[in-house]
Amino acid sequence: MTQTVPFGKKFKETYFTNINPQYTAVNHGSYGLFPDKIFHRYVEEMKKDLYNPDNYVKVQQPETYKKALQTLGEFFHCDYRNLALVDNATTGVNTILRSFPLDKGDKIVYPSTIYGACGLTIKFMVNRYGIEAVPIELVYPLEETEILSKFEKVFKEQKPKIALFDVVISMPGVKFPYEEMTELCRKYGVLSLIDGAHCAGLNPIDLGKLRPDFFVTNLHKWLFVPRVCASLYIDKKHHRSVHTLPVSHSYLDDNSKVSAEDEENWLVDRFTFIGTKNFASIAVIGDCIRFRQEECGGEQAVYDYCHSLAIKAGDAVSKIWGGPVLQNKAKTLVSTMVTVELPLEQFGLSITDFTGNYVETIEYVFGREFQEYNTYVPVIVHNKKMYGRFSAQVYTELSDFEVAARKVVEVFNTLADDPKFRKLSGKSKL
Ligand SMILES: Cc1ncc(COP(=O)(O)O)c(C=O)c1O
Repeated sequence: MTQTVPFGKKFKETYFTNINPQYTAVNHGSYGLFPDKIFHRYVEEMKKDLYNPDNYVKVQQPETYKKALQTLGEFFHCDYRNLALVDNATTGVNTILRSFPLDKGDKIVYPSTIYGACGLTIKFMVNRYGIEAVPIELVYPLEETEILSKFEKVFKEQKPKIALFDVVISMPGVKFPYEEMTELCRKYGVLSLIDGAHCAGLNPIDLGKLRPDFFVTNLHKWLFVPRVCASLYIDKKHHRSVHTLPVSHSYLDDNSKVSAEDEENWLVDRFTFIGTKNFASIAVIGDCIRFRQEECGGEQAVYDYCHSLAIKAGDAVSKIWGGPVLQNKAKTLVSTMVTVELPLEQFGLSITDFTGNYVETIEYVFGREFQEYNTYVPVIVHNKKMYGRFSAQVYTELSDFEVAARKVVEVFNTLADDPKFRKLSGKSKL
């Protein structure tokens, strides 16, 4: 549990040598990245597969799957038999929404800031099954109490069947009061479906205490598991009501009779194999957790470093950009991701110019970031303001965020100078 190599540049040079040294990697939150040791373990596992695919898939894979669940059960402080492994958070949310028995007219409540793919899954449920969507408008910055009371009002007045909410919202990258929300769901008899795409490896989590109905977390984002891999928690009482996506060999009717032992292992047996794929990620989950314990000093040490770096990074970017960190009075919004306003006026641009050309402009910004500046800072418009999101990770240090922030300024300067986008005159003041 003692970390020997300091986090930041040195840690990157020691453990993350696959990252392009010219690339300013400040966007861990989007796709994750994993250390060299895990890469080698992953390749080893692929070799085991290639050595004898029949044995690997038929014999080893079910054992590896169960072992991975047991490791995760300890990691999440819950019974491993309440866990399943799926490809990603989107699949996890889809698995629940598309198989749990929801009736026409059942209401699903969710924040307006919900991840795009999940929002569209709800739209599909509305169109195909007549589920009623109840979005709750969230305009940040907000206090947690404000968010909770908005949901409570809807819980009381509209009696929704299920609530879908995040641990950390994608954009803007702010922490959501998911623990209090889970409690609120319990109080009002609303099913809780938690999208923890950003959770495992981002902050320590105790599912035994949280006791949600459904919870999915990507392991390939913050936990250093190679893509693709996510863990889906399903409360015991719902095991029979959820089916794999795709429905596959393991399908049993909701009311099938099985032995007591099979009942205990219902979820494990259903989700172990639902189609051919690469299983190497599952095999290295334990190695990832071990790497984090042995080389990083454990989950709390990782969180403490990344959270305090995100705060410092936010302040540094704020100085460069001249806009505030997206934060509330209680200071609960920053996790290991931080979101900072980029005031457009300084580039001679206004938000209305920007939103008028939203898709084109976003493509321009991201294209320039990639091709000319070797970085990627996701930007969005929220509350009529432009924001950029930064992710702190053990291989980053403060200077990475300063460099990335300056690169974004250059991108916006070129954008403002481009007659195609410039609606107002004036040069950057930065
Ligand atoms: C809140 C949230 N939910 C879901 C997802 C989707 O994750 P995946 O693409 O791994 O399914 C993301 C991705 O960033 C996210 O931020």
